[in-house]
Amino acid sequence: MEIPSLDVFKLGFIGAGNMAESIARGVAKSGVLPATAIRTSHYRAERRSVFQSFGFQILESSGQVVADSDIVILSVKPQIARKVLLELKPFFTDDKLLVSIAAGIKMRDLQEWSGQHRIIRVMPNTPAAVGEAASVMCVGEMATEKDKERVVSLFKAIGKIWTADEKFFDAVTGLSGSGPAYVYIAIEALADGGVAAGLPRDLALALASQTVLGAASMVDMSGKHPGQLKDAVTSPAGTTIAGIHELEKGGFRGTLMSAIIAATKRCCELS
Ligand SMILES: NC(=O)c1ccc[n+]([C@@H]2O[C@H](COP(=O)([O-])OP(=O)(O)OC[C@H]3O[C@@H](n4cnc5c(N)ncnc54)[C@H](OP(=O)(O)O)[C@@H]3O)[C@@H](O)[C@H]2O)c1
Repeated sequence: MEIPSLDVFKLGFIGAGNMAESIARGVAKSGVLPATAIRTSHYRAERRSVFQSFGFQILESSGQVVADSDIVILSVKPQIARKVLLELKPFFTDDKLLVSIAAGIKMRDLQEWSGQHRIIRVMPNTPAAVGEAASVMCVGEMATEKDKERVVSLFKAIGKIWTADEKFFDAVTGLSGSGPAYVYIAIEALADGGVAAGLPRDLALALASQTVLGAASMVDMSGKHPGQLKDAVTSPAGTTIAGIHELEKGGFRGTLMSAIIAATKRCCELS
C-alpha cells in the first residue's frame, strides 16, 4: 500500500535506462515520493513514453533535470559518466546532492567531473526490478545526515541497503552486483538436475527457483548461520548428505569463492 512521504523532494535521473526505471517505479509505488516529483529526459521517444506512462515528468534536457532536482541520480553507463558529468557541471549547485550508481566510478572522479561536493555512491543490483535489490552506499564527506536519510529511503523502496567504505565497492560489485547471474546459473543447473532425475522441465524450474528463494529467506529471517541450517536438513546416511558429498567433490564452495574474487579483480581493473 502506498504510504505518502512527509519529506517531498525533487528527484532527477540522468540516464533513463533499466536501473533508473526500476528505482523510479519502486520509489513512486512505495509512496516515498509522488510520481510528479520524479523527472528525467531522454533523446529516444520510446524511453520518454515509458517514463511518462508512470506519471514521471519528462524535461527537455539533462541540464534541465539537474537544474530542477534536489537529488540527481547518475544512471548512465560508466563509460560515458565523465563526458556526461563534465557537460552537466554548470548546472550543479551546492544545494544539490549527486547520487551515482555508475559501477566503478570513484567518488573523487565524480567530484572532479561534476564539481559537486555532496555526493553519495550507491551500488544496487538488478533484482531492483522486483523490489529485492541488495544495495550498498558510501557517503561522501560533504553529504549531510538528511542526504543520507533520503538516499536510504529511496533505495529501501527497491530492496535493502547497507553502508560501507568506498574501498569495499569492487568486492560489493563482485558479490551482489554480479551475484544474480551466478544464482541464475545455479537455478538453471538445479532444474537441469531435476530433469535428469526425471522431472518435467516446468516443474523442475519452478521447484529450483522457489527452493533458492526459500533458502535465502531462511538465512535472512531465521538469523541462523547457513551451516547450522544445512546441518538441520542433513540426516545421517540420508539423501542430502549424499548430494552435499558430490558438491564438495566438485569444489562447489571454492568455485563460488573464486567467482567473487575474479569479478572483484575485473571490477578493480575496469575502474
Ligand atoms: N544493471 C545492473 O545490474 C547495475 C547494477 C548496479 C549499477 N548499475 C549501474 O547503473 C547504470 C545504468 O545501468 P543500466 O543497466 O540501467 O543501463 P541502461 O539501461 O543502458 O541505461 C542507461 C541509459 O542512459 C542513456 N544514455 C546514453 N547516453 C546518454 C547521455 N549522454 N545522457 C543521458 N542519457 C544517456 C541510455 O540511452 P540508450 O539506451 O539509448 O543508449 C540508457 O537509456 C550503469 O552505470 C551501471 O553501472 C547497473
